[in-house]
Amino acid sequence: MTRKPAYPTRLIREGNTEVLVPQLEAFQKESSEYAPSKAPVFYNPVMELNRDIAVIALQAYQTILHREISVCEPLTGCGIRGIRYAKEVKGVKNVVIGDINENAIQLAKYNVQKNRLLHKIQVAHENAGTLLTSYSAPHMRFDVVDIDPFGSPAPYLDSAVCALRDGGLMALTATDMAQLCGVHPRACFRKYGGKPLRAEYCHELAVRLLAGCLAVIAARHDIGITVLFSHSIAHYVRLYAVCRYGAKKADESLKNLGFVQHCFRCFHRETTKKPLLKHLGKCSECSSKLDFAGPLWLGKILDRRFCALMDAEAQKKQFRLSVKIDRILTLAKAEADAPALYYVIDKLCGALNLPVPPVKKVAEALKLQGYNVYFTSFNSRGIRTDAPAMKVKEVLRALENAKR
Ligand SMILES: C[S@@+](CC[C@H](N)C(=O)[O-])C[C@H]1O[C@@H](n2cnc3c(N)ncnc32)[C@H](O)[C@@H]1O
Ligand SMILES: [Zn+2]
Repeated sequence: MTRKPAYPTRLIREGNTEVLVPQLEAFQKESSEYAPSKAPVFYNPVMELNRDIAVIALQAYQTILHREISVCEPLTGCGIRGIRYAKEVKGVKNVVIGDINENAIQLAKYNVQKNRLLHKIQVAHENAGTLLTSYSAPHMRFDVVDIDPFGSPAPYLDSAVCALRDGGLMALTATDMAQLCGVHPRACFRKYGGKPLRAEYCHELAVRLLAGCLAVIAARHDIGITVLFSHSIAHYVRLYAVCRYGAKKADESLKNLGFVQHCFRCFHRETTKKPLLKHLGKCSECSSKLDFAGPLWLGKILDRRFCALMDAEAQKKQFRLSVKIDRILTLAKAEADAPALYYVIDKLCGALNLPVPPVKKVAEALKLQGYNVYFTSFNSRGIRTDAPAMKVKEVLRALENAKR
């Protein structure tokens, strides 16, 4: 019997799961401190939405497989994510959760017991890489591996790929947005092997850098990846990708790597699969020198059918944050096949010294000119369109002139 911890705790509910978590206020000495990191065990209430969407994604994936599945979550904290998978996802046969922190293991064990899931969940006091590697033999591997660290998942990718069965689902969270969004480009290159860019669509670039990194690491093991779903909220990005065994699959997946070229003068952006070894091209709209991001994943970051399946599964479940989840899934479904690299209207208006119009108005005006326009779950002020930057700016000026 694992005892309740002696430090201050509180009972919380996410989905239909109740767990004990550290009482964050008791450990936060100053308001500027990041409370989840100060507590004896990590728990971040803000990640409830991340976990809700994860429950939905795993349910959608299990529906496709149509059999019982196994899951590993090697950086579990208080255990909430793994416990929710065992409790809320139908068809989950067993879950292995682990953490390097002794306090986390004690609390996770207590929570597993409290939820009467001892028969389904195994709790391991282990370094994530060691735990994953111990499951890398072919008959041991998991259907789902979920890497949800504080910071970058990159150090765990190699062992995570090896612990995943052929056709398994890899779920990754990255919270190191300063690296992925170009504040620390050298650190980003170190972790992800690609150069970031401080462009307004940096959250999409973050997903693409993470997916690119996964594709390269998986390819070393003759494994190819297909991205099924991704999203970006506040301080993190999240990626779901299926990993399939085979040298050809790995080769095919590597064909999705390339670069993004961006003009900081006129907002033009384009993608290229050609190596940028010697020099960058000039902007095709204003002839300025282009900057670049990559190598990164230029393939799809949303699969329309998987988004639709997630949406259908979400309708069957009830969450406190259902409205937000619906919004993300509806947008994701609609933008799955839309052009990469969204424009952020506020950013363009700032550069043009124009007041910001409603995004819907901009979309209508572009559609009237024959362009395709999609809203994006990545940024509520963003649009994906096949219109060049020059046209988007023209429309913004025209909307302002029409007011006069
Ligand atoms: C962001 S927290 C996990 C949050 C959890 N996944 C959730 O949804 O609530 C990251 C956890 O990883 C653990 N950790 C850090 N380095 C680790 C390592 N090398 N191996 C295993 N666990 C580790 C920390 O103790 C912490 O509990
Ligand atoms: Zn330009």
